[in-house]
Amino acid sequence: MRIIKYGNPILRMKAKPVDIQSDGIHSLTEQMFVTMREDGGIGLAAPQVAVSQSFFVIDMSLINDGGEPTAIINPQIVDTKGESTVEEGCLSIPDIREDVIRPETIRVRYQDINGNNYDREIDGLEARVFQHEIDHLNGVLFIDRIGPMKRKLLQKKLKQIAEEESQYL
Ligand code: NI
Repeated sequence: MRIIKYGNPILRMKAKPVDIQSDGIHSLTEQMFVTMREDGGIGLAAPQVAVSQSFFVIDMSLINDGGEPTAIINPQIVDTKGESTVEEGCLSIPDIREDVIRPETIRVRYQDINGNNYDREIDGLEARVFQHEIDHLNGVLFIDRIGPMKRKLLQKKLKQIAEEESQYL
């Protein structure tokens, strides 16, 4: 699968809720696990592979011993606590990393690939990845969450990425 880049309008769309029974989700998530691994990401949202549906994959082996690549479906953040600053990057915005301030702890509801429901409080790196990927499902990118001055300094790089991406549109 090709990861679409900044400038592709699909990254700005709000993803549609997933029906686990009917949307070919099993095959899509398997392909996304492979793409995430190949590109060295810890998370990958469906819109990044041009699928505007509300799910993402996360490589839990990079978070917990014994964790595995996991699909997180129809996630909703229902509560947040605290604040932390962490440097983020994104496979759709290559070669740019910036500090992003987000809540430290979130309570999140979602489904897994078998339709089981979860309601969990998470923090640390896992909460960070969830928030970054859930942003993707809402058409939001991490560069939207940095200060206007910093973003201004990135304009040239971003324009370059968008120009390269335009050949695929
Ligand atoms: Ni990203």
